[in-house]
Amino acid sequence: MKQRPLGSSGPDVSALGLGCWNFAGPYGPTSETESHETLAAAKDLGITLIDTANVYGMGVSEKVIGSYLRKHKAEFRIATKAGIRRDPSTGVRYFDNSPEHLRGELENSLRNLGIDHIDLFYIHRREADRPIEEVMDTLQRFKQEGKIGGIGFSEISPASLRLAHAVSPVSAVQSEYSLWSRQPDLGMVQACQHLGVAFVAFSPLGRGVFGAQAPDPASFGEGDFRKANPRFVDPNFSRNMAAIEPFKAYARSLETTPIALAIAWLLSRGPHVIPIPGTRSAFHLQDCADGVSLQLTPSHLAEIEKILPAGFAHGDRYSADQAMGVEGYC
Ligand SMILES: NC(=O)c1ccc[n+]([C@@H]2O[C@H](COP(=O)([O-])OP(=O)(O)OC[C@H]3O[C@@H](n4cnc5c(N)ncnc54)[C@H](OP(=O)(O)O)[C@@H]3O)[C@@H](O)[C@H]2O)c1
Repeated sequence: MKQRPLGSSGPDVSALGLGCWNFAGPYGPTSETESHETLAAAKDLGITLIDTANVYGMGVSEKVIGSYLRKHKAEFRIATKAGIRRDPSTGVRYFDNSPEHLRGELENSLRNLGIDHIDLFYIHRREADRPIEEVMDTLQRFKQEGKIGGIGFSEISPASLRLAHAVSPVSAVQSEYSLWSRQPDLGMVQACQHLGVAFVAFSPLGRGVFGAQAPDPASFGEGDFRKANPRFVDPNFSRNMAAIEPFKAYARSLETTPIALAIAWLLSRGPHVIPIPGTRSAFHLQDCADGVSLQLTPSHLAEIEKILPAGFAHGDRYSADQAMGVEGYC
């Protein structure tokens, strides 16, 4: 597996990570056994970057990874996140980047994962009114104590990244980035490359739409994240599927799969871009990994741009509720 650095002071990780939100069921049911098989497949494929968060199933994803690590030796670099809370009485999400909350969540994550060091600790969403410099001070303390390796931020703006990075090096920024979610091209991909920060692309498969078989909204269960997502609701969904069909045909003409092609496209966006597809299945993970060895020429990239031009998607990538806490910049 090819390697890419997790920020300018490393460590090197696999060019493809594994997103483990899926172990908590946002895209359909799964089991601990199936998740362990997926982690075993990641290990066999040489995938070392494992992405989770404290809120994925409220600890479920971290605990499933923890139970795997207790049974198996693996050279995984574990990334987790904190900073999102939910009001217990109203269920409304809010953001807390206070030192007390972050420390408590870090300790919980270490316990869930059964480890004493987290390789990359992200602020999942910024608390808008808390200066990012103060948050960096908190994270630096965790680093000095040896509890975390690198510092990351998810869904922040390039301006916030620059403020944070001026305090101390940030290892990674994680944002949604794929053929149908290209806002990071308007400054964040470039800012990360300039500063020596890894850009970790989440939902790189468009939450399943680049799969050879289209997801079926009629089959989405109550907890499925896509149920309330504008791109998966008609008429947007049907239009999006029709737009993606020629991309699937193009992948077939190249004797590859649309998933591998979507991953290869992301890897071509810069040497610091690391996609983290999410899957519950070892079989699907192999398909994603095939994209790492796929070499795209300028003519392939031009053809992909012609088939799926930037901005082709119908509908916002998030509903108003899902977009809470995402920093805007364009
Ligand atoms: N920082 C953040 O705010 C944030 C937000 C969202 C996600 N993330 C992270 O990013 C990771 C990946 O994003 P994501 O899971 O939201 O979206 P994604 O990777 O774009 O798509 C996941 C979907 O694609 C399907 N899939 C995977 N491989 C496939 C294949 N080879 N063929 C067909 N379908 C395939 C999965 O189904 P199967 O399970 O059936 O394979 C699942 O439904 C998450 O697990 C999480 O770690 C972070």
